[in-house]
Amino acid sequence: MAFTIAIDGPAAAGKGTISKAVAAHFGFAHLDTGLLYRAVGAKLLAGVPAIDAALALEAADLEQGDLLRTPEVAQAASKVAAIPEVRAALVDFQRAFARRAGGAVLDGRDIGTVICPNAEAKLFVTASAETRAQRRFAELQDKGLADDFATVLADVKERDDRDMNRADAPLKPAQDAVLIDTSDLSIDQAVQTAITAIDEKRGQSS
Ligand code: DC
Repeated sequence: MAFTIAIDGPAAAGKGTISKAVAAHFGFAHLDTGLLYRAVGAKLLAGVPAIDAALALEAADLEQGDLLRTPEVAQAASKVAAIPEVRAALVDFQRAFARRAGGAVLDGRDIGTVICPNAEAKLFVTASAETRAQRRFAELQDKGLADDFATVLADVKERDDRDMNRADAPLKPAQDAVLIDTSDLSIDQAVQTAITAIDEKRGQSS
């Protein structure tokens, strides 16, 4: 049976960690939709026009490991994500994934609002910009990619601003999304809060 969990929120709020844990808990497939935009952003940086890149995107383009996780690719992703033709080219793939048998978790910016407005469960995961920048900074340090903290914070704020203020599918909570602020939660607490919220929706939809 199809059951879609939409998890949206700004960069480094904990969506990815929560989504993976939730997918493992319920035995659902997981799609990190940010990777689609990152793959298009990486192609743009390599000289391919963004719309052409989005139209020709293949599953193998998503499997580039940490190459898609750099700050440069993140900024390029946020820029190509503001182009309506790029977004349109990626809709069908995301919707087909969402309705696969056995359940799906999709995380991104517009899953609950645009891609899957009828998702059975919607979460909006957020945290303060400073908390998110701290987490991203630690992640980058682990990978040996660290800028200084001020640069990472400025980067997070710049992406927030672009993602929230674009005309097409801006980042915002769906009206029926459950809000989870992870600023003061441990990973376990955030995951448990998400699972409890989804369990309630599963009870309602069965
Ligand atoms: O989640 P992320 O940091 O990997 O996303 C990279 C960029 O892609 C983000 O700044 C905005 C864009 N994005 C989007 O516009 N819509 C999505 N569903 C997912 C990501």
